[in-house]
Amino acid sequence: MTTQPLIKLHDGNTMPQLGLGVWKAGIDDARNAVLKALDVGYRSIDTAAMYKNEAAIGQALQETSVARDDIFITTKLWNDDQGNAQQALETSLKKLQLAHVDLYLMHWPCPERDHYVTAWQGMIALQQQGLVKSIGVCNFRQTHLKRLIDETGVVPVINQIELHPMLQQRELHAWDVLHQIQTEAWSPLAQGGKGVFDQPIIKQLAKKYGKTPAQIVIRWHLDNGVVVIPKSVTPSRIEENFNVFDFQLEKTEISQITQLDSGHRLGPDPDTFN
Ligand SMILES: NC(=O)c1ccc[n+]([C@@H]2O[C@H](COP(=O)([O-])OP(=O)(O)OC[C@H]3O[C@@H](n4cnc5c(N)ncnc54)[C@H](OP(=O)(O)O)[C@@H]3O)[C@@H](O)[C@H]2O)c1
Repeated sequence: MTTQPLIKLHDGNTMPQLGLGVWKAGIDDARNAVLKALDVGYRSIDTAAMYKNEAAIGQALQETSVARDDIFITTKLWNDDQGNAQQALETSLKKLQLAHVDLYLMHWPCPERDHYVTAWQGMIALQQQGLVKSIGVCNFRQTHLKRLIDETGVVPVINQIELHPMLQQRELHAWDVLHQIQTEAWSPLAQGGKGVFDQPIIKQLAKKYGKTPAQIVIRWHLDNGVVVIPKSVTPSRIEENFNVFDFQLEKTEISQITQLDSGHRLGPDPDTFN
């Protein structure tokens, strides 16, 4: 099996730098995608209560011959459940047929609701009970992160944010690095590569390395030290997206991709999404 990079989180736990995302994957697709991914060598799966496919992930985990301890499972606390993290996690664990998840993420800060500190306290309690190994957040800006840290003293291990060549969030990534928070990219392929895969520099690098545009973009995330979770339910793409450990981009090539940042957001703005 290909040697894949692991990332050490500030709480001492480790996670694979490349995983499979399953947003928008229906029940059968999600189950099959996870089985295919585990077969190819992936050892990290990113789901969420909101994706409504945790039960399918659970089914795949029952069917695979890969040991539970060798697989890193992430799920997320949905916005409506911020006041009751314990019950929400117990529901997720039941669907996943697991005794614990490796990473539990708060899905959005929802600043208008103003419940994210309470939610974080609930997640800290879950970690103390051993029901989750690590805790982190998604879609947090510096102000939200600062408030969590100031009010609880507990620093998230991960900030999972929208990040792709069109939206690089370099300031936030630098802030995360400064505070030992690992940045994780969602929609790393810009949701199928629209506006990215056809960029001349991406095509040029694909040609140079004998790789596909998707592989170049995934490699760019890896070379930037970001955790990356491309989603696919297509077996050949699941394989393609994992076949990225036999080359590296040069510094100048990474900088050339940096030029593609246009600030174009595909998902909601965390300051206004409630
Ligand atoms: N925390 C959050 O708020 C949040 C938000 C969004 C997403 N996420 C997580 O991040 C994961 C990834 O993001 P995403 O699903 O939005 O988008 P993405 O991974 O950027 O792109 C997925 C799309 O790209 C296609 N694709 C995959 N590999 C490809 C390849 N090699 N060549 C061409 N097309 C390819 C997929 O099609 P097929 O599936 O048809 O192959 C799918 O349509 C999600 O699944 C989820 O786990 C988290």
